[in-house]
Amino acid sequence: MISVSASQSAAAAAFSTPFSRRFGLRLPLVQGPMAGGPTTPALVAAVSNALALGFLAGAALAPEKIASETAAIRALTDRPFGVNLFVLDTARPDDATVRRALASIDPLRAHYGLPPGAPLTPPARYAPDFRAQFDALVDLRVPVASFTFGLLAKEDVARLHAAGSYVIGTATHVAEGLAWRDAGADAIVAQGAEAGGHRGTFIGEVPHALVGTMALVPQLADATGLPVLAAGGIMDGRGMAAALALGAQGVQMGTAFLGCAESAIPADWKARLRDSADTATSVTRAITGRHARGIRNPLMQQLEAHPENVAPYPVQNALTQELRQHAARANDGDYLSLWSGQGAPLARRREANLGAAQLVDALDTELRATLERFERFAAGESSSA
Ligand SMILES: Cc1cc2nc3c(=O)[nH]c(=O)nc-3n(C[C@H](O)[C@H](O)[C@H](O)COP(=O)(O)O)c2cc1C
Repeated sequence: MISVSASQSAAAAAFSTPFSRRFGLRLPLVQGPMAGGPTTPALVAAVSNALALGFLAGAALAPEKIASETAAIRALTDRPFGVNLFVLDTARPDDATVRRALASIDPLRAHYGLPPGAPLTPPARYAPDFRAQFDALVDLRVPVASFTFGLLAKEDVARLHAAGSYVIGTATHVAEGLAWRDAGADAIVAQGAEAGGHRGTFIGEVPHALVGTMALVPQLADATGLPVLAAGGIMDGRGMAAALALGAQGVQMGTAFLGCAESAIPADWKARLRDSADTATSVTRAITGRHARGIRNPLMQQLEAHPENVAPYPVQNALTQELRQHAARANDGDYLSLWSGQGAPLARRREANLGAAQLVDALDTELRATLERFERFAAGESSSA
């Protein structure tokens, strides 16, 4: 999979895989889609203009907003980019489920002087309508479309292909990878347990599907035969090289891009990412009703105190949203969902608030340096560098 041009020295060599060549990338790097503010059109376009693959998170957006953000990206770059959606059914919770959830959430709302929450009454929805988002995505004919939380039907993958889109499915274990292959996907994101944000698991129980990136990537590559993008815990060129050595054709990095200048998340979230330790995160379903990895804070701990009250996604997500929006305006990380991967402390090795293009440059340099080190080892040099 890894090709280094023999005519060049390793340091200056072009590094590519079939996946990176397909999209003309200078290194096999995808910026992970991140719903909730990080993946602004400015971030996506900066990554794509730096010759990596930028990705818009469309899951939380209405179809019109997906269209306007895609137009904003296209105004900023003519390079390939992607759009990501959550595959979701419409939620129709019963009153008791909503009342139980609010019994835990209301005391936290009171912290910001918010009145008790109420069930959403139709036509309000707990999440944007997936089918309307999907139709909009097909119409937009984006270069790359990726999905998590569920599986598309073959016919839907075929519609995207007919629109010229390359289709990527997220898998957290082999059975999910095979399901995506059978549905016609072009590539798989291998979401290891280290990854920040929601777990993509759609077959089986999440606690049984926390396979680490190191174990998951080669198993998915072997089982599916499709290009695999390694996601979870990769923060620098060393991690990229490791993933490629395991058989990945690229990496998808989220947490590393969260701290970028173009990422529109509250400053306190960025600060807590940099201050965190390797043990700072947990996987919890208490905040949104779906398992996700984030830095522990009072919001997570207080909602976890009553697991029996947590409504399923997207109901819990919608019911905690106003509270989290207030926390964002107050720049108060205690009541934000601080999604983060286990590699977050590695960001301290970089300048804070780096531009996304500078981060891509740094990753390119680090990847080359790592490969050069391998070459030196292979040549038998006794270097500890
Ligand atoms: C804040 C945050 C939000 C995320 N939102 C999405 C999303 O909307 N869709 C998706 O497929 N993955 C999402 N992810 C996963 C990332 O795209 C990426 O796969 C993951 O961050 C890689 O692991 P890392 O965090 O260790 O780099 C999110 C991750 C984070 C940290």
